[in-house]
Amino acid sequence: MFGKKKPTPTIDKDQLELIEYAQKRIKQKKRLYVHFVVFLIGAIFLIIANTVLGIGKDLKFFDINWFVYAIFLWLFFFLYHAFNVFITHKFMGKAWEKQQLEKLVAKQHERIDKLKAGFLKEEKLIAQSEVYNESNSKDQNSESNNSKSELTIIVAAAENNAIGLGNKLIWHLSDDLKRFKSLTNGHHIIMGRKTFESFPKPLPNRTHVVITRQKNYKVPEGVIIVHSLEDAINAVKTDSQPFIIGGGQIYKQAMDLVDKIELTRVHEDFEADTFFPKIDASVWKETSNVFHKKDENHEHEFSFLTYERK
Ligand SMILES: NC(=O)c1ccc[n+]([C@@H]2O[C@H](COP(=O)([O-])OP(=O)(O)OC[C@H]3O[C@@H](n4cnc5c(N)ncnc54)[C@H](OP(=O)(O)O)[C@@H]3O)[C@@H](O)[C@H]2O)c1
Repeated sequence: MFGKKKPTPTIDKDQLELIEYAQKRIKQKKRLYVHFVVFLIGAIFLIIANTVLGIGKDLKFFDINWFVYAIFLWLFFFLYHAFNVFITHKFMGKAWEKQQLEKLVAKQHERIDKLKAGFLKEEKLIAQSEVYNESNSKDQNSESNNSKSELTIIVAAAENNAIGLGNKLIWHLSDDLKRFKSLTNGHHIIMGRKTFESFPKPLPNRTHVVITRQKNYKVPEGVIIVHSLEDAINAVKTDSQPFIIGGGQIYKQAMDLVDKIELTRVHEDFEADTFFPKIDASVWKETSNVFHKKDENHEHEFSFLTYERK
């Protein structure tokens, strides 16, 4: 549910375009260089043809030999060629810059659209969870003075019940993270010491209750320390829906004590060192099942399942 970054692709279409531009540029300069060499040899040949071989010896305009005009004309073409290479088709010239700018703007638009879509989705999930929490608390109020809280396990488990490896999660599923955030927002979250240590820092807007046998275990301000699961449950009695968020050891001990399981079932088998206990179909009934297919943000298919006691 939390952690693990997706790898980003390293090959960039724009980089490829830059290489193609550079190659084109090298070709242009090579052609100019060849032109220069041919021009030098040609000019020498014209001089020799006129002065040594006597070709068009008497052909003069304004008392200047024809080969001088020919060389100047050629020089003019050579300079025009050089002008084209260094000025007109200059690498990263105005047209190229404009093209790059347009590409950047289009990319930014694409990013903004994606962000907007993400925000809308998250807002929807938060709104759904608020409605859900509200109707839940109304139901609880209407049941006379029954203030019993609904202790809920929240977990993401593979088909083979794998949940963690090396004190880390195995997958990154952004919609699962959003669902975790929206369901647990504003509530108490009970966890084992190892799961607590797998977070870079405490999660915002939730009260952390950490279970450990260590008597001097140090935690940041606001985090509650208890030394048994029973003490953890007692510490969250005032919450209408406290959550047990893992890991393997705590889930195992909590299975017989919770009222509800919010499971994200990832539809694959994974190698793991931590597992979720089997859900006993004679004890639990599935009350909700929403399938989520693979997409660019989700490498695996998964389903949001809710189980309640029969
Ligand atoms: N996929 C998911 O939804 C999900 C969710 C959460 C975690 N995880 C994964 O699960 C793994 C961690 O699970 P885990 O089973 O190794 O550890 P854990 O359950 O998070 O924590 C175990 C620790 O809790 C304390 N503890 C357990 N039972 C206790 C008891 N009855 N009384 C007092 N203290 C008790 C002990 O702490 P001390 O040693 O300090 O005494 C014990 O070492 C990680 O890989 C994590 O990423 C997955």
